Amino acid sequence: MADIATYFETTLAKEDVACSSLSATAPGDRRRREATITSSYLEVVSNSPAQTRKIGRALGRLLRPGDVVLLEGPFGAGKTVLVQGIASGLRAEGLVSSPSFTLVNEYRAGPALGNVPIYHADLYRIHSEQEALDLGLEEYLSGRGIFLAEWPERARGVWPEENLWIRLEIAGEKERKLKIQAIGQRYVEMLRKLSDRLGIKAE
Ligand SMILES: Nc1ncnc2c1ncn2[C@@H]1O[C@H](COP(=O)(O)OP(=O)(O)OP(=O)(O)O)[C@@H](O)[C@H]1O
Ligand SMILES: [Mg+2]
Repeated sequence: MADIATYFETTLAKEDVACSSLSATAPGDRRRREATITSSYLEVVSNSPAQTRKIGRALGRLLRPGDVVLLEGPFGAGKTVLVQGIASGLRAEGLVSSPSFTLVNEYRAGPALGNVPIYHADLYRIHSEQEALDLGLEEYLSGRGIFLAEWPERARGVWPEENLWIRLEIAGEKERKLKIQAIGQRYVEMLRKLSDRLGIKAE
């Protein structure tokens, strides 16, 4: 299936997390080591919408209530296609479409997953963190639902420190590069399992 680039784990200083940097903590720096957070990174190439859905499905099977998955990338990168796969992995019923006009769509995971709510936000039209908060994002994020957002960079400051941040790049007509960063232990474990399921060996 997907071609493989890399998977690796690292430790980030918390202040680096805040600015989404991948630089590792300097060895021997005690103060910084005390304020670190674990992180990992996976890069996958998809060659078709079906492959992107398959990656999403594998990820969806690993999600639990309270998880936050953020999907960044230009128009047509495949964010919504990936969400369709995630929803299918969560056994959600109904059609997953772009929430461009409603800004947040709500689905339900299947009965085996306790029918937990799945929130799918599209923040393209949002231009400030305040506007994002006005949508009630904090309530969605603190609830027991699974939260997925397109255009998360529109409201960088509102996300929990720990999250799964996926950057999708258009690399060709049907080629998409998925750069997935896990921040925090919960997401590092999730990403390790995802790399296993996609047949990717850790470096
Ligand atoms: N490998 C691929 N993965 C996902 N989509 C692909 C791929 N190759 C081609 N496509 C096409 O790219 C488009 C992706 O559309 P999608 O709505 O998912 O983008 P989006 O990132 O959600 O954009 P927007 O910012 O407008 O919401 C679809 O038309 C899909 O068929
Ligand atoms: Mg979309």
